[in-house]
Amino acid sequence: MKLAWKEIIAAVDAALDQYLPPETAYPEEIHRAVRYSVFAGGKRLRPLLTITAANVFNVPLEHALPAACAIEMIHTYSLIHDDLPALDNDDYRRGRLANHKVFGEAMAILAGDALLTCAFETLAREAPKYLPLETVVALQQEISRAAGTAGMIGGQVVDIISEGKPVDAETLEYIHRHKTGALITCCIRCGAKMGQASAQQLALLSTYGEKIGFAFQIVDDILDITGEEEVLGKKTGSDAAKQKATYPALYGLEAAHKEAEKLLAEADACLEPFGEAAESLKSLAQMLVNRTH
Ligand code: IPE
Ligand code: IPE
Ligand code: MG
Ligand code: MG
Ligand code: MG
Repeated sequence: MKLAWKEIIAAVDAALDQYLPPETAYPEEIHRAVRYSVFAGGKRLRPLLTITAANVFNVPLEHALPAACAIEMIHTYSLIHDDLPALDNDDYRRGRLANHKVFGEAMAILAGDALLTCAFETLAREAPKYLPLETVVALQQEISRAAGTAGMIGGQVVDIISEGKPVDAETLEYIHRHKTGALITCCIRCGAKMGQASAQQLALLSTYGEKIGFAFQIVDDILDITGEEEVLGKKTGSDAAKQKATYPALYGLEAAHKEAEKLLAEADACLEPFGEAAESLKSLAQMLVNRTH
């Protein structure tokens, strides 16, 4: 059964609300800070990808929710920390003030820590209700690897140490494939693993994930130059101000657009063998490359 995006997002929001401690739980300050950023209106792209990939194999939405929400928690933590003065020093996120601008730096650091921890608590507590333990362990391995130094943190490290320096093509690709691509690929791999995909199917979907993950960060870089702040929900011009290693900075805007389109076409090709079952993944890839926020 094909799931509507709106329906998926509503289910994800409800599940996140259920999984996260209420604002009234002591110490209230941290739960308010966590919920402020989680419910600030993100696109929920990673849960959409996870659930849609699982749906290729007819995994019911409910079964994919714990992993999808765990990944969204990790993503939200990465945004809270990414905006801190010690990292990108950005004041706006998801259309409102960044977490540290409202709750202070100490609470923002702790809110990120809390979300990272809560992600794995949620996975361990909720996923075994629907999935074999072996699959849950496989998901935990996928997610922890993608979030760690072999994935997102590795990319963030090289992003930070490359600020203000000329970077070569290889370093830029490393940054993009790790800081953003790893978690996006992880969504697709988790969906496939929940669906007991064959090794061949897993390989094809992983390549699809890598292509759209890379394209996603190229588009993020483009939008930092050409996007509208009101629509984006964050300030533009932030990359240039910090002399970040970005795709348009190295290759120019036109080449950046072309590269994103090329990656989209290559991602599409990976889905061919899945036929109709992968239609939604195809549309998601298109949306992600053609987005305005
Ligand atoms: C922004 O991610 C940070 C990157 C990894 C480029 P999104 O553009 O998915 O942010 P939200 O979740 O919609 O706020
Ligand atoms: C952020 O990349 C990637 C992670 C948060 C892991 P950016 O620094 O480009 O993301 P934005 O532009 O602040 O959303
Ligand atoms: Mg950053
Ligand atoms: Mg940033
Ligand atoms: Mg950016």
